[in-house]
Amino acid sequence: MSSIQKAPRSHEIPENTIIIIFGASGDLTRRKLLPAIYHLSREELLPKNFKIIGLGRRIPLNNEFKTEMQLRVRQYCSHKMEDKYWNPIKLNLHSIRANYNDEDTFLLIKNKIEAIEKEWNEKSNRLFYFATNPSHFTLLIMKLSKFKLNINHLPSWTRIIIEKPFGLDLNSAKELNNLIRTNFNETQIYRVDHFLGKEAVQNILVFRMSNLIFQPLWNREFIDHIQITTFETVGVEGRVDFFEQTGVVRDMVQSHMLQILAFLTMEHPRSLEPELIRDEKVKLLNSIRRYNGDEIQKNTVRGQYSEGIVNSNLTVTYRNEDGVPIDSLVETFAVVKLFIDNYRWRDVPFYLRTGKRMSTRKTEIFIQLKKVNDSHIPMILSKQLPIPNTIQLEIQPRAGINITLGWKPAGLLTEVEPINLDLGGKAKIKEPKAYERLLVDTMRGDSTLFIRFDEIIEMWSIVDPIIKYWKEVDKKIMNGLLPDPFPNYPAGTHGPDLANEFIKKDGRAWNKL
Ligand code: BG6
Repeated sequence: MSSIQKAPRSHEIPENTIIIIFGASGDLTRRKLLPAIYHLSREELLPKNFKIIGLGRRIPLNNEFKTEMQLRVRQYCSHKMEDKYWNPIKLNLHSIRANYNDEDTFLLIKNKIEAIEKEWNEKSNRLFYFATNPSHFTLLIMKLSKFKLNINHLPSWTRIIIEKPFGLDLNSAKELNNLIRTNFNETQIYRVDHFLGKEAVQNILVFRMSNLIFQPLWNREFIDHIQITTFETVGVEGRVDFFEQTGVVRDMVQSHMLQILAFLTMEHPRSLEPELIRDEKVKLLNSIRRYNGDEIQKNTVRGQYSEGIVNSNLTVTYRNEDGVPIDSLVETFAVVKLFIDNYRWRDVPFYLRTGKRMSTRKTEIFIQLKKVNDSHIPMILSKQLPIPNTIQLEIQPRAGINITLGWKPAGLLTEVEPINLDLGGKAKIKEPKAYERLLVDTMRGDSTLFIRFDEIIEMWSIVDPIIKYWKEVDKKIMNGLLPDPFPNYPAGTHGPDLANEFIKKDGRAWNKL
C-alpha cells in the first residue's frame, strides 16, 4: 500500500544530517521532538553522522540543556532510558541562545554548520525544524534565505519542517506560503500535521479501503451521523502566547480534525501515491459547506474552562493561567457541526468536538448507522431494537475499533441486546510515534504524511468565517452589548451544557467516552 505502510529502513536514512530546531526551549521540543529522536536512536534510525542544534531565546547552555532534555525524554518516553541509546544524542546535542531578530544568530548557525562539515569532511543535509510560535516563521524564512541557508548543496539537501497552524487565517497562510515558495522549492517544504503520523489515523484509510463489509455502508444511505472528538486533559502548558492567538479552533479543528474528517470521507484515490491521496483530500475539503453568520451561530458552540479537578489535581480557571488576560474570550472548547455537500455525504452531520482540560484524554471517531427500517424486521424485534449499529475508531490513547451489534442473548425469549466487538487490545500506543515517523519521513524525502498547501487553503476557508463571526460577537461582549459567556464549563468535565443541548436538539447524544 504505497509508503503509508512501508516501514522505514536504516539504509534509507541519509548519512550526514544536521537537525536545527528553532524553538528548542519550548514544549514541543521537550514533549515530542527529543523523545522521538531518542526512539529513533533505539530503532537505529538516526543518521550515521548527525548533530542536533537547539535554538531558543531562553535555552539553557549546552550541558544544562543536555541534562534537561535527558530528564524530559525520561518523562515523556514510553521506553526506558538507556545510556547506550541516549549517549550518542548527548554527544551530538548542542544549544544556541538565539534572538531571531539578531543576524549574529544566523551567522552562528552558518559557522556551526560549516565547522561540522569540516569535521565530517563532507557537505551535510540540513533539516530546519520550525517549532517556534508561528509568529516567528516569516522572520526565520527571511533570515535563512539572507544567509543562504535555504540552498540545496546537491547531492545533499536542505529541508524545512513547518509546524501548524500554517498562518493564522487564509490571508496570512497565503502570505507565508508565498514567502516560503520564493525562498524554497516545494520539495524542500514539509508542512506538518503530526496527527497524520499517528498509526491509527493512517489506519482510517486502510480500514475503509480494505474491508468490503464496510464499503457499501460508507455513505448517507446508511450513516446517520459521525462524531469526531479530541479531548485533552492538558491545558495550555506554558504556551499562553501561542494559545491566545489560536484557541482550539485554529489549533485543533483547522488542522488535525479536518484532516481526520478528510481521511474518513474522501473518495478512494486511484492509487495510494501521495499526490493522489492529497488530491482526494482537497476535493473533499472543498465540498465542506462554508457557513455565513447565522449558520455559524446555529452550527457551533464554544467554551472556556473554569477551575476544576483534572486527573485528581485542582486546576485553575483559564483566565487565571499565567499570562492569560482576565477577560480573555479565547475558546478552550468547541463544537463545530459540518456538512459535506457531495453525493455521498449530503445531509449527514459531522460533529467535531474538541477541548482542553477535559475529563479524559481521548481522540475517537464515532460513526452511528441509521436504525434498521421497521418494515424490514419482524414486529417482535422492532420494539426492542432501539440501538443502531455504531463503529468507534479509537485514535488515542488506544488504537482500536469497537463495533456495536444487535444479538439475541441465550434464552427462550427473542430479545435483542447490544454486544460489542472490541478490537485493538488494551495496549496504549507507545508515544511519541507520530513525530518519530515524521522526522524519518522528512529525512528520507517522503512527503505522504505532510500537508500540501491547497489543503491548507481549503481548511482555512472552512474555519475563517467561524473565527471572524466569533470576533464580531466578542466585540459586542467587550462593549457590554452581550453578556460575558465565559467560563462556561468546569475543568475535568465533558464541556459546557450548551454542547449537550446542541446535539440533543438534533435528536442525538454524544457518545459516552
Ligand atoms: C498540537 C496542538 O498540534 O496537538 C496542541 O498544538 C495539542 O495544543 C496537541 O495539545 C495534541 O497532540 P497529541 O499528539 O498530544 O494528541
